[in-house]
Amino acid sequence: MDKHILIDNAYSAMEKSYSPYSHFKVGAALVTEDGSIYTGCNIENASYGAAICAERTAMVKAVSEGHKSFKYIAIVSSSHEKTLPCGICRQFLSEFASKDAVVIMHDTENGIIEIPFNQIYPEPFSKDCIK
Ligand code: THU
Repeated sequence: MDKHILIDNAYSAMEKSYSPYSHFKVGAALVTEDGSIYTGCNIENASYGAAICAERTAMVKAVSEGHKSFKYIAIVSSSHEKTLPCGICRQFLSEFASKDAVVIMHDTENGIIEIPFNQIYPEPFSKDCIK
């Protein structure tokens, strides 16, 4: 997987961001186990708490098309600085992250930054916790 292409996909998705309240645009692009790419943007709402982040938009698009595991997720924002997934997204993504899933971010000064998903969210609440 070419990481630059995935970052480009995330920036294209960011252009569709609906963020009239925060004016902070976010885009995400993930790669599923079979190599399919799904993208998403943040979508806000007049009822602020009803907003959905870009990462979850991409993930629900993938799952709703039958893909339950991702290998990479690229995240970018209009700040053009490293944009990490929020806590809710970390938990949500943990349900579908492959064992060696990687988060790819972009910063105009430093370029591409990669962090293993299990490093930014090491101990998720998972199905193993429900017994
Ligand atoms: N946002 C995301 O889309 N992803 C994140 O991981 C962090 C925050 C969005 C939510 C809201 O629309 C805006 O960024 C400002 O918080």
